[in-house]
Amino acid sequence: MKIIAPSMLSCNFGKLEEEIEMVNKSDADWFHLDIMDGVFVPNITFGTPILDVFKKYSEKHLDMHLMIVNPENYVEKFASLGANTITVHYEACDNLKDTIKQIKKLNIKAGVAINPDTDVSLLKEFIDQIDLVCLMSVFPGFSGQKFINETYKRLKSLKTIISNSNANTIIQIDGGVSLDNAKKLVSIGADILVAGSFVFKSESPKKTIEKLYTAIN
Ligand code: DX5
Ligand code: ZN
Repeated sequence: MKIIAPSMLSCNFGKLEEEIEMVNKSDADWFHLDIMDGVFVPNITFGTPILDVFKKYSEKHLDMHLMIVNPENYVEKFASLGANTITVHYEACDNLKDTIKQIKKLNIKAGVAINPDTDVSLLKEFIDQIDLVCLMSVFPGFSGQKFINETYKRLKSLKTIISNSNANTIIQIDGGVSLDNAKKLVSIGADILVAGSFVFKSESPKKTIEKLYTAIN
């Protein structure tokens, strides 16, 4: 089964509880939560108080995408806030292997995100230790950006790396996902599609999630 993970960064924070309830009732299986520090990326989003609200109302998998420097300092904190997956950026970690171990020790899925200009082959030596690769299809920092077409080629290479190492790593695509590219991404090997503005700027976010889900399953 392929997964749709709405990026809650694009939701209406003025009615967060309702937005969470909508996703609870939708075909989405994960909540994708974008945490930005204004240092690793030129934007600041949300932290503990908002994550507490997700912890309280979510009935689904909490997928925390950390776009922060020194993520190892915050892994325990995010674990206590109910994370089921913690994804750190390859570019933000001084010691990726240790950070992956640190996440897994807490019984949380360990994800590694890579920017569009980071060579996917750099993940080869870690791939069998990573539960999820978040292949960025935009430069991290903002929702509503245009999908980078180069992603298809990168996805193919990543898929080859994973199968060559007999790893069970799943692939998430993050940025500019819509009904225009969802099917193609899954046919090449994506397992999870993150979608922010395409879902929340649509007339009926719940229906849009359903359409995306149906397109890929
Ligand atoms: C970008 C974030 C994405 C983003 C997705 O830095 O990691 O998750 O919110 O939003 P859309 O789908 O609008 O590109
Ligand atoms: Zn994200």
